[in-house]
Amino acid sequence: MEPESVAGAVRVSEPVATRRHYLMCRPEHFAVTYAINPWMDPGAGADAARAVRQWESLRETYVALGHEVSLIDPVEGLPDMVFAANGALVVNGRAYGARFAHPERAAEGPAYAAWLRANGFSEVLEAERTNEGEGDFLVLDELILGGTGFRTELAAHQEAQEFFGRPVVTLRLVDPRFYHLDTALFPLGGDNVAYYPEAFSPGSRAVLERLFPDAVIADARDAGVLGLNAVCDGRHVVINAEATGLMKGLRERGYEPVPVDLSELRKAGGGPKCCTLELRGAPSV
Ligand code: ARG
Repeated sequence: MEPESVAGAVRVSEPVATRRHYLMCRPEHFAVTYAINPWMDPGAGADAARAVRQWESLRETYVALGHEVSLIDPVEGLPDMVFAANGALVVNGRAYGARFAHPERAAEGPAYAAWLRANGFSEVLEAERTNEGEGDFLVLDELILGGTGFRTELAAHQEAQEFFGRPVVTLRLVDPRFYHLDTALFPLGGDNVAYYPEAFSPGSRAVLERLFPDAVIADARDAGVLGLNAVCDGRHVVINAEATGLMKGLRERGYEPVPVDLSELRKAGGGPKCCTLELRGAPSV
């Protein structure tokens, strides 16, 4: 009676969005005054007002998609604090605090930990090991992927695994332009990812191929506009507008790319994901 089989099969695998809770920090004090990654040129600087406008539209994009956005107050003298992803890793309402690799950002760790405590997170672990939160830890249903090579130290993967009781799979980054895991890979739902293979060591590429045979593979052009610094809610992918090849690949898999312009924040080496810390299991949700 109905042409069931084909349509049915498509429907089963259709990506489904789930409501998320994000923490963001308005870039009122945004600037490029030091260089801790190859994207940053203090001589060229950056325009904070333009960054705020772009960031506002990112925030509005999340709200329009039905997500909850909480805000942490920006702190003067911390120009990179807009990159909330680096502030912690939150899973099941428990937070693993950040400990930054560079002194310029060191004060951000305690600032984010204080916000989490003040907002009902009773378990916030003060990390012993250097780690830059969700910049280098990405969460899937069964695994946490941990980046190392530039910022987060290997021992932090162990520390996070003990704290969360979830396996942390180490991935080694080898290209300084992709200094955080979230500049080279993003989760697509709970069991797949999109990534740029050349950002990883040969062994880590082999690990990614084994774990994610159906991954969406990005090319140098998409990676070079920080297209992998994207946020997926299961269906929508909030992504830098310049990553046109990657957006096409995502559409072919049934995902809905939602392009944003964060070109001003890219001058510090950041994109949509960097501006976004997911609060999994937040007390208010
Ligand atoms: N300027 C910042 C840094 O180099 C950018 C951080 C971007 N954040 C991220 N999650 N990748 O630390």
